[in-house]
Amino acid sequence: MGFRYLLMAVLHFAFAAGPLWPGPPALADEPSNDLIEKGREVFLTVAGVGCAECHGRYAEGDLGIGPFNRGATEANIRGALQKVDPMKIIRDEMTDEKIVQVAAYFRWMGELQLVKTMYKQGRFIANEVSIYPGTAIQLAVQNASFEPHTFASDPMGIKPFRVNSRDFGDLTWRAPDNEGVFELRCTDCGSDGKLTIRVSRSAKPHVPSRPVLKSQAATSSSEGGC
Ligand code: HEC
Repeated sequence: MGFRYLLMAVLHFAFAAGPLWPGPPALADEPSNDLIEKGREVFLTVAGVGCAECHGRYAEGDLGIGPFNRGATEANIRGALQKVDPMKIIRDEMTDEKIVQVAAYFRWMGELQLVKTMYKQGRFIANEVSIYPGTAIQLAVQNASFEPHTFASDPMGIKPFRVNSRDFGDLTWRAPDNEGVFELRCTDCGSDGKLTIRVSRSAKPHVPSRPVLKSQAATSSSEGGC
């Protein structure tokens, strides 16, 4: 994927993020929303690339450059900034303040199970997911079509949210403690495509991400990173 395209998408989202950001679910011992939102901005934009450029938009490591690192701690991040060569390009811009902000965002991401889907040509890919009751998810919708679209689900309590063409939107949702089947739909697509979310005890429970960092596995250094 072209760097410029990705950068545009990232910047674009940074400006469009407001209304798509209903705030995280109430998690125990949670850093303030303000800190998380600032951290998200650092994650998406720092040094013109953001962490997202290498670690993936949701820190899921899907680009094959930087690894999945949702849940990385402040110590992990400081260690990586020192030791990971490609991360040199952001090092100078990562002030203490930004490190604290981005660490809050990583911690918050680590608590949430990432559920990603893409809307394309009238359907969702993936179009069905199973999650364990009570799980808090970060639900990310990529709109891969050429028009902006609106997505919503009354039963899930998800108010209509718009995702621009070739862009991403995400929100948080906590599954109920009882089993059930929910649907997210595109409200202005004129198609009957839907994302089915099964809340089921047979789903794999989400384990909050606490990545075992290579450096920690290899040595007993407390610094983390790579
Ligand atoms: C230019 C690409 C690039 C950017 C930008 C980048 N990273 Fe990395 N990052 C990497 C690579 C590559 C590794 C893995 C290095 C290795 O495994 O040796 C890594 C590793 C890490 C690790 C250690 C993960 C582990 O499992 O060992 C953390 C934590 C991390 N990065 C955080 C961040 C944060 C926070 C940002 C943004 C502030 C960021 N990175 C931006 C490329 C990048």
